[in-house]
Amino acid sequence: MPLLRVVDRDGVEQQIQAPNAGVLMEPLRDMDDGVTAICGGMCSCATCHVYIDEAWVPKVPAAMSDETDMLKDLVSYRGAASRLSCQIQLSDALDGLRVTIAPED
Ligand code: FES
Repeated sequence: MPLLRVVDRDGVEQQIQAPNAGVLMEPLRDMDDGVTAICGGMCSCATCHVYIDEAWVPKVPAAMSDETDMLKDLVSYRGAASRLSCQIQLSDALDGLRVTIAPED
């Protein structure tokens, strides 16, 4: 079970034990003040936007074109490490992953 380090919108880092199945969005949605994930993970709302910690960017599987299109089209606060958390599969390989929840658009 991967341990995630999540920086919320107040800049507070929390540690969350996540399952090693499903997607990153799910434990982030369950947090107080986590992502809203309005579309439920269908890659159509961009309300699950997070920034991957720089050290982790090469270790997270790359985004597919539909995700990158969504980030370009719908996200105002897009950065180089922006990802849609509903498109990142959880696994033990992500143990220690640090992400920051992006500001709401
Ligand atoms: S939950 Fe809607 S795009 Fe990720």
